[in-house]
Amino acid sequence: MSDALAELQRQLADIEREARSTLHSIARESELVPIRAGVLGKKGVLSPLLAALGKLDGSARPAAGALINVTKLALEVLFEEARLRLVQQAIETRVATERVDVTLPGRRSEIGATHPVQQVMDDLVDLLGQFGFDLTDGPEVETEDYNFNLLNMPASHPARDMQDTFYLQNGLVAGLLMRTQTSPVQVRTMLSQKPPVRIIAPGKVFRCDADATHSPVFHQIEGLWIDTDVTMADLKGTLTHFLRTLYGDDRPVRFRPSFFPFTEPSVEVDVWTGTRWMEVLGAGMVHPNVLRNVGYDPEEVQGFAFGLGVDRLAMIRYGITDIRYLWENDARFLRQFVAGGAV
Ligand code: DAH
Repeated sequence: MSDALAELQRQLADIEREARSTLHSIARESELVPIRAGVLGKKGVLSPLLAALGKLDGSARPAAGALINVTKLALEVLFEEARLRLVQQAIETRVATERVDVTLPGRRSEIGATHPVQQVMDDLVDLLGQFGFDLTDGPEVETEDYNFNLLNMPASHPARDMQDTFYLQNGLVAGLLMRTQTSPVQVRTMLSQKPPVRIIAPGKVFRCDADATHSPVFHQIEGLWIDTDVTMADLKGTLTHFLRTLYGDDRPVRFRPSFFPFTEPSVEVDVWTGTRWMEVLGAGMVHPNVLRNVGYDPEEVQGFAFGLGVDRLAMIRYGITDIRYLWENDARFLRQFVAGGAV
């Protein structure tokens, strides 16, 4: 072998060794491209050797060309092997790091839970639905007519005092207020529907009042049952059965004579909390004036109405002593009710 060929072979061997060690040291497929260009590309280290072929003796040229080609092929194989190895490594790394550990507890964001008052409200609506009452509702902003006048509440009634009612300042409509009770839904329903009527209307009500058992925003469920032969016995029977279903037969419950402008006679119902009586609802036989106000004939139809205090019932259900706990939104307090339980 001529000196020139021996020298070429030495150079090719160097190039191959160099390429091998570089390929061993890299970790990513993307690093391959510039390295490959530096060896096999037009400006790579093999190019000058190929260019130099022309300067060789005619007799040495084929052997030199063959040597370069063999090395070039070997290098191409090396690069392809390296590429496959790096792709494989990348897959293995991903499989190892992205493996799903099925023994880990499930990850999810905290989605919260139904507020205890809403839980009680939902349960009461469900139960009253089973008693045959249809669900309806009305607006929280009311007129004086629906909230008071048509309910036989004259302007002189103490509940109409500014201290109890949040009036709205509105240049367009006079006498708008935040409803102080769900009873206006009775009027709205009777004005839009002929008897028989048997509805419940749950919702928020508003009064300018705050202490341990009064909150400026609280919840009521209004009930109304009008038909040709609904009597006070139906009122007592329905509400007693309702409260017994809620609290069990042995929970003391009492009916007290009371006064509401829109019922006659009227009662209030208390439940024994274990330490004291708590008023949970007002009720009565719908006043003939109210029936007349909505175009019903009190000689033909009559019935009873009731208004449940949902927040009070929630306090009894959960043994909560101060209504304000329900609205402070202390998550430690609210979390205790996540599982729900019997009403
Ligand atoms: N609206 C009354 C209140 O908020 C509760 C009430 C009493 C509702 C008697 C009624 C009823 O339907 O018949 O104090």
